[in-house]
Amino acid sequence: MRIVLLGAPGSGKGTQTDSIIQRYGISTVATGDLLRAEVSAGTELGQRAKPFMDAGDLVPFDIVLGMIENGLRALAQINPKGFMMDGFPRDLSQAEALDKLLTKLKQPLDRVLFFEVDYEEIVKRLLGRGRADDNEATIRNRLRVFEEKTAPLIDYYAQKGLLRKVKGTGTVDEIGARIRAALDEIA
Ligand code: AP5
Repeated sequence: MRIVLLGAPGSGKGTQTDSIIQRYGISTVATGDLLRAEVSAGTELGQRAKPFMDAGDLVPFDIVLGMIENGLRALAQINPKGFMMDGFPRDLSQAEALDKLLTKLKQPLDRVLFFEVDYEEIVKRLLGRGRADDNEATIRNRLRVFEEKTAPLIDYYAQKGLLRKVKGTGTVDEIGARIRAALDEIA
């Protein structure tokens, strides 16, 4: 199973990750986690990425693409059951690069889940979480960036027949049940 989780910052993608990967035996690639690991390790890549992350802007394409290519090639060897991507793609150029890479690896996507949550609920959730980029100004910018750059991917994947919308409010278990309903049919 090869899937993408699409949703605004704070829509609950990371929260649902463990139950999805355990249920279907797939691996996860989360660009935000990979980038934060680079920042904490103080690598050159992390130092380049940090100012963009602090502002809530997208990190330049070349940094993210290299990480994704390495991650997906490694996963193709390690876990034949598939993968779930969280935080990538985030704009049209990333989506097109992902299509190209997955065609090359002969591993096309099976499904894209879009988590629907309204923005005021998201601001409340993220202010309550307190990660380094969870201050109000950065959250609002991340939502602007989502609206402008990432939201067009909803139509992009709908046109390919891959998109399923999942209502992202309610309890974590309720949302988990909706996700299972959208994924069990391709498991
Ligand atoms: P990234 O790490 O991807 O963060 P994000 O997009 O801001 O997403 P979050 O992790 O905040 O949200 P989530 O949907 O996972 O929600 P979560 O489950 O944590 O990216 C960070 C930065 O890295 C970007 O701004 C960018 O700079 C850079 N970056 C990453 N990928 C990139 C790319 N591809 N290209 C370029 N740059 C890139 O939940 C949030 C909170 O809500 C938690 O506190 C949780 O407990 C709570 N919550 C979850 N579910 C519920 C619920 N049902 N009810 C109530 N509360 C809930």
